[in-house]
Formats: sequence, structure tokens, C-alpha cells
Amino acid sequence: MALSQEEINHIQSVASIVDVISSYINLEKKGKNYFGLCPFHDDHAPSLSVSEDKKIYTCFVCGHTGNVFSFVKDYENVSFLEAVKIVADKCGIDVDVDVKTNTRFDRFYEAYDLAVKYYQNNIKTAEGKKALEYLHKRGLTDELIKEFDIGFASKTNDTLSKLLLNKGYKEQELIDIGISNKSNTIYDLFRNRIVFPIHDSKGHPVAFSGRIYEQVDEAKYINTKETQIFKKGEILFNYHRAINEAKKMKKLILVEGQMDAIRIYSEGVKNVCATMGTALTNEHVKLLKKLNVEIVLCFDNDSAGEKATLAAGELLSKEGIELSILRISGAKDPDEYILANGVDKYKEAVDHAIKFFDFKLNILKKNKDFNKVDDVSAYVNSVIKELNKTNDSILIDLTINRLSEEYGIDKNVLLNKVIKVEDTKTLTVTTKPRVKKEKNIRLLELLLYYMMNDTKYIKVFEKELSYIDNEKYQVICDEILAFYLKYNYINIADFISYSIESDSYETILDIIDNNINTELSDQDYLALIDKIKLINDENKIMQLKNKLKSTSDINEKLKITDEIAKLKKRDV
Ligand code: UTP
Ligand code: MN
Repeated sequence: MALSQEEINHIQSVASIVDVISSYINLEKKGKNYFGLCPFHDDHAPSLSVSEDKKIYTCFVCGHTGNVFSFVKDYENVSFLEAVKIVADKCGIDVDVDVKTNTRFDRFYEAYDLAVKYYQNNIKTAEGKKALEYLHKRGLTDELIKEFDIGFASKTNDTLSKLLLNKGYKEQELIDIGISNKSNTIYDLFRNRIVFPIHDSKGHPVAFSGRIYEQVDEAKYINTKETQIFKKGEILFNYHRAINEAKKMKKLILVEGQMDAIRIYSEGVKNVCATMGTALTNEHVKLLKKLNVEIVLCFDNDSAGEKATLAAGELLSKEGIELSILRISGAKDPDEYILANGVDKYKEAVDHAIKFFDFKLNILKKNKDFNKVDDVSAYVNSVIKELNKTNDSILIDLTINRLSEEYGIDKNVLLNKVIKVEDTKTLTVTTKPRVKKEKNIRLLELLLYYMMNDTKYIKVFEKELSYIDNEKYQVICDEILAFYLKYNYINIADFISYSIESDSYETILDIIDNNINTELSDQDYLALIDKIKLINDENKIMQLKNKLKSTSDINEKLKITDEIAKLKKRDV
């Protein structure tokens, strides 16, 4: 069901734009407005300003402007209606709206839903008994197996494929979504394995990871290949289940293996997800950045895990994500650590995770003999090299002090080796190209801005001007009047929702962005109207003069001259 404009306006009136945006980024109050790092460009200083009064936000660097819905729409990359639904949910308002997007993929999700049910059922059969026993032996209870929808792919070649073909799926579709494969005939991709469903961030099952349980000489896990709905670089195991808890705890633990995630989760630490052994991608980083929480990297306790930590850590910290590192010891991975030491010990370790920079220092210290001058010098130089990658002046200062104290090196010697990066920083900020507009256009935009703010300005406009001598802006003016006529009030935030589908939407946002800092004053508005009247008259006079030139009829000429005189007189 579609939502009416009234319902949308109601949701907006109830929603606090500051609260909603705060659920994505940190905002700080300064004066009347709130400020935060703009998520729509590579922001280094808080450039996004949010006004609770006006219920809009704008970035004074990249110019991104809008209301609570447009923020959610662009931040979460969803449709307008989905954004409205998300905002409503956040405010506890029930909306009866079916916001299934990506209907193109619904068929595929349904296939996966069926496959999950099929595999789940298998695990209760005689053939699945050994697989189930294996899971029990690893300490997974039946409830947990149910909660994670863990199933079993039987030894038969094609049962799942046949089942889905019978449901009307085409062979090619099943191959495309990674459920089946074909040599001479179609066959199931997973056979004789325990299968873990993998979900996308919205919670749709989109792939499987299949583990051996009795076999030898076979890959431990095989996973669904990359498909249209399973973009490996964009999916983290258990992400959809972890979101809420991560936001609550302001922290998310990221591990390598799904069994690690399941173990940690099953012990009540629900803010955990897994990379499933692949390297962290920029897409993953985006997914994590959205949460606006601290990330604790807790990869396996081997050199591959250490390397992966370093690589993932660089990506995450480059994005300004708060980052800690936990290197467990005495166990291969978090799963084994918890089995050996209990979850409380693990929680304690998470609380004592170290900063990424300290983790890097620990690595640099490895295999060094600090009684040897050469080793000390090599270490200090490599630390300086790391410092030159950051522009965190507090971190630089603290580290220099520490190095100076620990190794008795003159602070100034160290400081001189640190390149000042501040100067180059500002150059990377993308500034919005402010198009120079001619003065008349700026006046028209200001006029429309006033009208979007208050009906009293619309009334004065109707009485004093009633039209705009510019086609593009007249269209927007008509939209404002239409809104006013329909709802008998106006404010910027609701007008944005109203015009979101219109061709003028971008221009409307631009007008708001350009005038947002204008203090509205009745007197200024009247003066503005006068100026625009003058411009209109001048335009009119010009048109009349042209007409005068092209006519030879003497009566007509007299009439035009008269009109021109009247207009000129009015303007003095
Ligand atoms: P691990 O080898 O650390 O597995 O691989 P694990 O998580 O400890 O699994 P268990 O405890 O033996 O069951 C980490 C992750 O790498 C992927 C899987 O997603 C696994 O969780 N992997 C591993 C594969 O895709 N294929 C493999 O053959 C092995
Ligand atoms: Mn393991």
C-alpha cells in the first residue's frame, strides 16, 4: 500500500531528525544546530549541519541537503518509501506499507528460502544423523542449529535442484544463483556437507557455506560462488543479526570464521560477525562504517591472521573507524579459545583489546634486541614511518614522548623526523563547485526560499507579485502554491518530501542549500518583493521597446509608449 503525503508528513513531524541522523553519525550541538562529519563526501572537519527546528540538514562543503527521509535514503541507499518506513520504525510508528524493493531478486530469495528449509529438514533424517552428531560434538545445541538455520545437504545428486525445478525455476536460474551446476544433467552444488546459510545485510539468505564432517581429502569448506545476490566483498556472516546489538554496545567484533561467530554469539555476545576467510574489502568497510561503532578485530592466532589484521586494520582506520585489536593466545581461534577458557575470559580480552597503532608497534618490536643500538634505531625509524601516515597530532605527541622516555632520545630529534601533514590535508576536501549565479536568479531563489518557510510569505507573494518571470522558477513556485493549496501550511522539510519525485527536486535542494543561513525577516522580504517587481518591470519595458521597434502602426506605437511611461513612473 502506498502512503499518503499526510502520513509521510506526520512521520516527519514526529521524527527527530537529530535522533535519526545520530543513529548513523555522531552529532555535536553547537549553538542552535548540530554538526557532524558529512557521510556524503570525504569529510575531515564536521561540515554537516542539522537543524531540529527546520528538520533539515545541509553540508556546507559538498552541498548535500535534505530532510530526514532523504538522509536515510541516501545513507542506506534505499528507495524513498523504504526510507520513510525506516524512519517510521525508528520512531515506533506502525506503517502499513509494503516496501519490498529489488523485486527482480524476490524469486531468487524465495529459492534460497526453500533451499534453507530443505537442508534443515535433511538434518533430522537418518542420513543427516552423523552431521547432527558432529554439530552436537562441537557444542552446538538444537536451538542454536535452528537459530542459524544450519542444515544438511544429502549425498544424493540432484534432490534440491529437482525440487526447485518442480517449483517452476529454470535450470539456468538455479545455476546463475549458485544452487546448482550442470555437466550432462543438472546437479546440486552442495553434497554430503553441513550447510550454513549466509545472509545479506537485510537478512535474506543468499548463499551457503558447506562444511565437511566426516570426509578427508576434501576442502574443509566450500562456498556458493559469487552471484547477483551474493557479492562476496559486500557480505559479512551474521551481520544482519549483529546490527542491533552492535549499536547498543557501540562495538562490533569481527572474526574470520563463521564457526567463531556462531560460538561467540551462542555465548550471548551477539555483536559479532565474520569475514569468512576472505580479505576485507572497501565494500565491507562501508558496511561497517554505517554502524558508527568501534570495531574489534579478532582474527585467528596465526601469522595469516596477523597479516589479515594488519591489512584490514589499515583499511578500517583509513576510514576513521574506531578500531581495536584482540590477538588471542593459547588457542587457534576464538571458537577454541572460548571452549578452553570460557566466555567471561573472552569478554575480558575484548575489553582489553589494544589500539590498532599499538598493535602495529608490537609487530615492529618483534625479533628486535633492544640492547643493540641498530635494532633500537631500526625500530624508532619504523615507528616514525608509521607516524607519518597519520595526522592525529595527539597520537604523534604521545608516541614521541614514549619513544623519548623509553630509549632516551631527544624529543626534538624525533619531532624533526615527523613530517607535518596538516597542510596537505585540507587540499583533499572536495568542495562543492558553487556556480556563480546572476543576481536576479539569486533573488528569485531567495523569494522561493521564503515561500517554502511560511505561508505568510506565500500570501504576500500572491498579493504583490503573483508570478515569476522565469520559467524554471515559476515551475517551483507552482509546486509551492500547490502544496499550500492542498495542505494549507508549509515547511521546508515537508515540501522536500512532497517534491522528491519532481523534476525540480535538485534545484529545490540547491535553493535551500544556498539560502539556509538566511535569517527570515518580514521587512527584508518586502524589500525583496520590491526588487523583483522592479526587475519584472524592467523586463517588461525591454519587451515593449522591442515591440515598439517592430511595429509601424502609429496607434499601436502610441499605446506602447504610454505603457512604457506608466511602468517607468511606477518604478520611481
Ligand atoms: P578456518 O580454517 O579458520 O576455519 O577458516 P574455522 O572457522 O576455524 O572453521 P572450523 O572451526 O574448522 O569449522 C576461516 C574461514 O575461512 C573460510 C570459511 O569461511 C572459514 O570459516 N574457509 C576456510 C573456506 O572458505 N574454505 C576452506 O577450505 C577453509
Ligand atoms: Mn575453528
